[in-house]
Amino acid sequence: MTYNLNGFFSRIRHSIIRGPVYPQTEQECKRIITDSLILHFRPRTVPEPALKFSLTWGLGGMALVLVMLLALTGILLKFVYVPLPGKAYESILVLQNEVWFGQLIRNIHHWCANLLVIVVFLHMLRVFFTGAFHSPRRFNWIIGLFLLFFVLISNFTGYLLPWDQLAFWAITICTGMVEYIPGVGTWLQKMLRSGPEIGPAALLMFYTFHTAILPVCLLICMAFHFWRVRKAGGVIIPASLDDQSDTKPGYVPTIPNLVLRELTVALVLVAFILVFSILFDAPLESPANPGMSPNPAKAPWYFMGIQELLMHFHPVFAVLIIPVLVTGTLILLPYLTYQSNRRTGGVWFFSRKGRRMGIVAAITALVITPPAIITDEYFMNFTASIPGLPTLISNGFFPAAIILAGITGFHRLIKRKYNASTNETIQTLFILLLVSFIILTVTGIWFRGPGMALTWPWNPELSSS
Ligand code: HEM
Repeated sequence: MTYNLNGFFSRIRHSIIRGPVYPQTEQECKRIITDSLILHFRPRTVPEPALKFSLTWGLGGMALVLVMLLALTGILLKFVYVPLPGKAYESILVLQNEVWFGQLIRNIHHWCANLLVIVVFLHMLRVFFTGAFHSPRRFNWIIGLFLLFFVLISNFTGYLLPWDQLAFWAITICTGMVEYIPGVGTWLQKMLRSGPEIGPAALLMFYTFHTAILPVCLLICMAFHFWRVRKAGGVIIPASLDDQSDTKPGYVPTIPNLVLRELTVALVLVAFILVFSILFDAPLESPANPGMSPNPAKAPWYFMGIQELLMHFHPVFAVLIIPVLVTGTLILLPYLTYQSNRRTGGVWFFSRKGRRMGIVAAITALVITPPAIITDEYFMNFTASIPGLPTLISNGFFPAAIILAGITGFHRLIKRKYNASTNETIQTLFILLLVSFIILTVTGIWFRGPGMALTWPWNPELSSS
């Protein structure tokens, strides 16, 4: 065997292996083949600082592992699931009760999908807070935004498939929100529902998107994303360390240094998902009943922030103006005129001062948002105080102007107190808005009861509804 493959292995030796090492045994041959396969995807060496776990927390790799688990379990689910309103729920029951490991496979798929939203979001935050979205990585940031969109829509389309009360009404609520978009709202809602109401056509459309179109979009974008990471020379590392790259003293072989670390993270994650899926079953409520809405009827948790915004703003602001502004800012972020700062790239929060400012912003949001929610819920009502005023102004422009004034005041204060750079200031404002939005999401998920009134999560009314 060694004799027949001699030419092949000598080529591998010259291209991959440093030093005159010929494979002597079959095991060695196999190892070299595996190594060369891995090195088709990974660079031969990586800068040592890039191996530091706290630089990336392995979040991008975890997202990849979750997508792979989702693909695997999703294919298995397709053997049993039937995308018809009369049969979908039954097929989930058959899967859970009559198919070997059916419940476990569904649990893994369910928890991976939910964890993926969290992991991808955290990965985006890590990229932002280490300043890894500036050139040459800025186009990859845009690809990342597409990935985030595809992950959210994949989750959303999968949500309907069990066809239980939870699924049916969550999707009804979400597709109901788009109706508020002026001009195209009704048309868009009809498109999303494949008709005036959620029914067989919607289920089939969601199924097709969930199992065919979106996986392909994800696959293409992920391949592009990883290629761009390599084109940028790997993940960002602090500039002071990168400067040594001319002499490359800090470079180490990818195998085993990086590959072993990645394998460890992947195995720990798979073990965690497995244990979690054994312990906790994916929810399944009673079969969908279009005639009886649960109270409260809530959107999927990752859209609860937007549903909560609807409680405080005119719908045009909640489902159009604010989401469009946020998306536009995220797209423009790497292209804004302020330049990447080579000294701070790869440094979490840019500097010690940046970290302090971030903490101040997070505390400010934590202290101000809950009272603001309560004040708006019980004490503030511009529509009633100024009768005759269009609700778009009383319930839209007025609250938006108050919030904008608050943000501007905060911006001036921190700018004056810390003499901060543009990077640090943008990051601080980002943290302020992010923490506020997380509080809105948490409020929507746990602190809204029947009629979407504010309540405590341990209120018995909530659990019985
Ligand atoms: C399915 C979703 C995603 C997967 C599988 C994924 C995977 C990865 C991986 C493996 C890396 C390199 C290692 C690491 O940083 O952990 C990476 C880097 C990167 N990702 Fe993602 N990612 C996803 C979503 C996103 C999103 C939502 C964004 C931002 C909007 C983003 C922006 C970036 C950028 C800019 C880099 C380069 C960072 C650097 O060089 O330090 N990615 N991604």
